[in-house]
Amino acid sequence: MAHPALIAGRTAVITGGASGIGLATASRLAAAGMNVCVADRDGNALDTAARTLTTLSASGADAVLTIETDVSQLASVEALRDAALGRFGEVALLMNNAGTGGGGGPWENLDGWQRVLGVNLWGVIHGLQVFTQGMIEQGTPCAIINTGSKQGITNPPGDAAYNVSKAGIKSLTESLAHQLRGVEGCQVSAHLLVPGFTYTGMMKRFLKEKPAAAWLPEQVADHLLERLGCGDFYVLCPDNEVTADIDRRRIEWGTGDMTENRPALSRWHSDYEAAFEAFMAADRD
Ligand SMILES: NC(=O)c1ccc[n+]([C@@H]2O[C@H](COP(=O)([O-])OP(=O)(O)OC[C@H]3O[C@@H](n4cnc5c(N)ncnc54)[C@H](O)[C@@H]3O)[C@@H](O)[C@H]2O)c1
Repeated sequence: MAHPALIAGRTAVITGGASGIGLATASRLAAAGMNVCVADRDGNALDTAARTLTTLSASGADAVLTIETDVSQLASVEALRDAALGRFGEVALLMNNAGTGGGGGPWENLDGWQRVLGVNLWGVIHGLQVFTQGMIEQGTPCAIINTGSKQGITNPPGDAAYNVSKAGIKSLTESLAHQLRGVEGCQVSAHLLVPGFTYTGMMKRFLKEKPAAAWLPEQVADHLLERLGCGDFYVLCPDNEVTADIDRRRIEWGTGDMTENRPALSRWHSDYEAAFEAFMAADRD
């Protein structure tokens, strides 16, 4: 069964929707008869996305709106909302999905930190500040999806700024779900999308060909729509290498750092290499 917000004739707003996971989701929804409002800061990619989505939609260009948007700027997200409501009159699905990487380590690259937190975390905060109240007041089934990352849960070394931004999205989306539950008559559900390794625009800059381990963005979109239909809050995606069981164990190990009083990020600490491997391999049945 599909999520009740995702029906033909209703409207989806997707940030970072001109590429990758956002575009794959917009494509599925356009093909299913929804209006799609795609926001991205890349104007050329938006033009290409508009042509793709128009072809997929039975209503053609009437059901497709693309808006050049910088989600790190509140005024730009307000303009997005005004354009979406002006054209379609309502918003059933908000997907705060725009994202970027290349932040930096804890005491490095201040510009990178500001850029990554500006897009990834402030972009989601802006989306919620601008759209949520109106979606509640519509009084119709609605959904808000924020795109997080496994890096915001297990915190692997490499790009602390990115991890912080995605950990912030997890925390924010959990708070959103809780607060929406407490609003009387509210029909808006919240969901945290956690993609696995996915071959998208972000990856294509570094990897010319899709690695065998990676999913395609269409697989993430299909998994997302299926799990939304089941009412899941955490939409954790596997990929061709990392199974749901591997994810579960990695998350449990990470949480165990605190509850077992191990050093931070012990998964990557040489003293804990053997213990982590044994934990991952242990027979649980
Ligand atoms: N690809 C993966 O393996 C993976 C894994 C986990 C999480 N994610 C997350 O998935 C989301 C989608 O990324 P993707 O992998 O599809 O990459 P992508 O690069 O294909 O798509 C991201 C889109 O966001 C847009 N964008 C960047 N900054 C923006 C801004 N300030 N305002 C508006 N749009 C902006 C880009 O132009 C791009 O079109 C991101 O939040 C990313 O962090 C991706």
